[in-house]
Amino acid sequence: MSLPNNFLWGGATAANQYEGGWNEGGRGLANVDVTPWGPDRRKVMSGTSRTHCLDAEHFYPGLDAVDFYHHYKEDIALFAEMGFKVFRMSIAWSRIFPRGDEEEPNEEGLRFYEDVFRELQKSNIEPLVTITHFDCPMYLITEYGGWKNPKLVELYKRLCTVLFTRFKPYVKWWLTFNEINMILHLPFMGAGLEFDAGENQEKAKYLAAHNELLASAWAVKIGHEINPDNMIGCMVAAGEFYPWSPKPEDVFLAQQKERENLMFIDVQARGEYPRYAEKMFERLGLDPGITPEQARLLKDNTVDFISFSYYTSRCVSTCPEAGEQVGNAFKGVKNPYLKISDWGWAIDPLGLRTTMNSLYDRYQKPLFIVENGLGAKDEPDADGRILDDYRIQYLQAHLQAMKDAVELDGVPLLGYTAWGCIDLISASTGEMSKRYGFIYVDRDDQGNGTLQRSRKKSFDWYKKVIATNGEDLSSD
Ligand code: BG6
Repeated sequence: MSLPNNFLWGGATAANQYEGGWNEGGRGLANVDVTPWGPDRRKVMSGTSRTHCLDAEHFYPGLDAVDFYHHYKEDIALFAEMGFKVFRMSIAWSRIFPRGDEEEPNEEGLRFYEDVFRELQKSNIEPLVTITHFDCPMYLITEYGGWKNPKLVELYKRLCTVLFTRFKPYVKWWLTFNEINMILHLPFMGAGLEFDAGENQEKAKYLAAHNELLASAWAVKIGHEINPDNMIGCMVAAGEFYPWSPKPEDVFLAQQKERENLMFIDVQARGEYPRYAEKMFERLGLDPGITPEQARLLKDNTVDFISFSYYTSRCVSTCPEAGEQVGNAFKGVKNPYLKISDWGWAIDPLGLRTTMNSLYDRYQKPLFIVENGLGAKDEPDADGRILDDYRIQYLQAHLQAMKDAVELDGVPLLGYTAWGCIDLISASTGEMSKRYGFIYVDRDDQGNGTLQRSRKKSFDWYKKVIATNGEDLSSD
């Protein structure tokens, strides 16, 4: 038996891609609402076009998403049928504080999540709650400039205090910021940042990152004070950077790229900036102005565990013959040894085992895989069923690599939540057709469809995987 009996099997979602109900229950407008589908999406997510409201020319897929807001009972029943032990979801900040800076929270928003948690409790499913998954109330962006402004640390603390207090009877597992390193790649999405022409974007991003890191440490502190049983983790978009060749420059570049991501976790897990980050700040002319109190805060409030998403590995090179840079948020060259998904992401199960070993070697804290999966197009067969063997194959190989890391390498792992366990909106492209789920949702890229839920072939397969605690990964 390779996995512990209390291993947390489940699935993962995020409010901005799943919840919908954007203008219901007193919820305020958020950055994720004004991020359109189509060619302008990338400009908005990267903070180079100032988009503050909805217009008639664009379609905004996150507004209704797949409407968990009205379907949560039905969805949770399906998760329970698969045997989930844990369900990862996020809180929409603007549902709790519609503008973000109110003194008092929105009671209707709190009640919505309470209802969801009660429903999960009935099925013995533990919630794993991401406090911030790419969302920020729009008002905090237009009035405060997003996470560049240290005032957001205070407002986030207020949010955390409300969540930890009110949801204490239901929630023990928390993540402070989803893929905190995404701030470097999609800064409007990751931190509500918008840039002026000529602005030093790197500097602004690291300043915002510093504020998020302080806020994350505050969350750990407040969360432990309110409930010492709380388990509070960080979350990084992981995936090894491989040197394309053994050329020393390629190896060095891969190390630098790795550090770019892990710098955040270095702070969250070890409690201080690594030396290489201090040097980088010097080069940028950035002085985050860390006070002795802040240094203490970071040092005393490190996370309980390290969570991460893993979809793919990346390959980097300084050699022109390595070919052009590909990929969306993370750029890299093509790895000649790996096949790619329909969206060009390299499929690398062994890379998951390598990643788990690297993270554990570096931090010696338990790990939690909170996202993994294959984004693919699903076409119903003549009987209307989705026979998604490609998804099963991807997950089989990754789960085997995960088990090897636990059993053969001794990496402590708390759980595994498959991303988009029910079809939802893609974060990078805004498409509905990039599906990850065990549960199909009838909706297309333009928002047409009945939102009806149905089980794919992978639904029964994952149910068996959970029932056997990962011992039986086979498929017929
Ligand atoms: C991670 C995010 O980046 O990857 C999710 O935390 C996202 O929000 C997931 O959906 C998969 O990416 P995509 O672009 O295929 O949705």
